[in-house]
Amino acid sequence: MPRLSTFYVCQSCGAQSRQYLGRCPGCGGWNTLIEQAAPAADGRRRRQGPPAGEGTGEATGRGKPRRSQPIHAVGERPLQRLASGFVELDRVLGGGLVPGSLVLVGGDPGIGKSTLLLQSAQVMAQSCSVLYVSAEESAQQVKLRWRRLGSPGGGESINLQLLAETDLELVLQELEALRPAVAIIDSIQALHDAELSSAPGSVAQVRDCAAALQRLAKRQDTALLLVGHVTKEGMLAGPKVLEHLVDAVLTFEGDRFASHRLLRAVKNRFGATAELGVFEMRDRGLAEVSNPSELFLGSDGPTAGTATIVACEGTRPLLVELQSLVSSTSYASPRRTATGIGINRLHQILAVLEKHLGLPLSRFDCYLAVAGGLDVEEPAADLGVAAAVVTSFRDLTLPAGTVLVGELGLGGQLRPVGQLELRLQEAARLGFRRAVVPRGSGLGESAAELGLELLEAGTVAEALVAALGVDPAADPATHPEVD
Ligand code: TYD
Ligand code: MG
Repeated sequence: MPRLSTFYVCQSCGAQSRQYLGRCPGCGGWNTLIEQAAPAADGRRRRQGPPAGEGTGEATGRGKPRRSQPIHAVGERPLQRLASGFVELDRVLGGGLVPGSLVLVGGDPGIGKSTLLLQSAQVMAQSCSVLYVSAEESAQQVKLRWRRLGSPGGGESINLQLLAETDLELVLQELEALRPAVAIIDSIQALHDAELSSAPGSVAQVRDCAAALQRLAKRQDTALLLVGHVTKEGMLAGPKVLEHLVDAVLTFEGDRFASHRLLRAVKNRFGATAELGVFEMRDRGLAEVSNPSELFLGSDGPTAGTATIVACEGTRPLLVELQSLVSSTSYASPRRTATGIGINRLHQILAVLEKHLGLPLSRFDCYLAVAGGLDVEEPAADLGVAAAVVTSFRDLTLPAGTVLVGELGLGGQLRPVGQLELRLQEAARLGFRRAVVPRGSGLGESAAELGLELLEAGTVAEALVAALGVDPAADPATHPEVD
């Protein structure tokens, strides 16, 4: 096949060049030139479909010109979602996989993306046709994994095709020939288009391969699941080149040293983002964790320096234990570290406690960790952080069965948080009996129905007194380490 010539286009200003240049001659930007295949002599690219009049204009967008139409005249197709085999994955997708949609599953190498998708393919292939394109691993390696996952009866009865191939053209041909309901491409960075001279995984290749796959998938209503590795910079497929192209972006994350994995939707055209799916990596693949709060709660009862909060991930409340250690510093400036919570948030809470409770925390090191390796970003965790720090500092223990929810203002006041009722329901479900919340929640009655004692407070000082039963600010000198 004759090789089509390529040219380079600046992504900032659109300037074109025949050869690669590190600096754009148009706008002066560095590394902005990306390789693109030049159109063929008849003015179209090889894969963009037949020219006008030859084929289905509907599919290629190049046939008879389309006219606008009144919005009420646009026919609606009911969304028939495919069950992915995992309730947790379905939830993150917004209720299942939409035919013809393009979903990017990103995550660090080794986190379990291939395992998740192969397991899902196993289940989906029982009700529809699935093509699994393995561009990274050989067919033998995938088969080994398949065995490890406990494949059902050798797999003859299910409609799962495996293709170990890295050439985009061959993958497209197979997709066209099989017209599967679902295709999994593992991974998009390992595919390459022979028309471009850039290396596989480069921005030009990833974008070109994904665009070609998308055109075909939309045309034949194949749901595409693309695996994308997070690069060193922590971005998906290089500089997030695919995020605007795909319908949904899911990220699969987790601690290398812990067995649980979290799946989140960063973008979703067919459902809510911020939904969370929780899995556990076991010996024989991933298992769903339907009750994740148990994962993030410490096993032994409350001790000095621990506090339980109810974080909300999307619509999902999670009970999470916070642990803190406060000890007198032996450095010129005290050390503060936070795992799972922003360090600036910790600094801010320590400053509020110092100012409004009079605790001399600036002479103490302070370490804070979220149990189970979860990242808690929302400010509703503030009161829990404050309680963990204060109980460690004063060697106090919160009464068993207490949760704390509330955002701290810089003036020491407690601010209301969203989805409080949902959080209280989850706390009650897991056997908690007391909840310290910001004043004015209006949830006294529903808390009573749930069997929860609701302690409302206007400031962090009031909240800590209500939670602990003693005033932690009363006499700082009682702390053994304060001179
Ligand atoms: P993998 O799905 O290959 O990760 P990715 O595709 O994201 O790079 O998963 C790799 C890790 O998962 C590997 O270190 C082994 C582990 N694993 C298990 O613990 N149990 C299993 O059943 C499987 C299949 C993998
Ligand atoms: Mg993999």
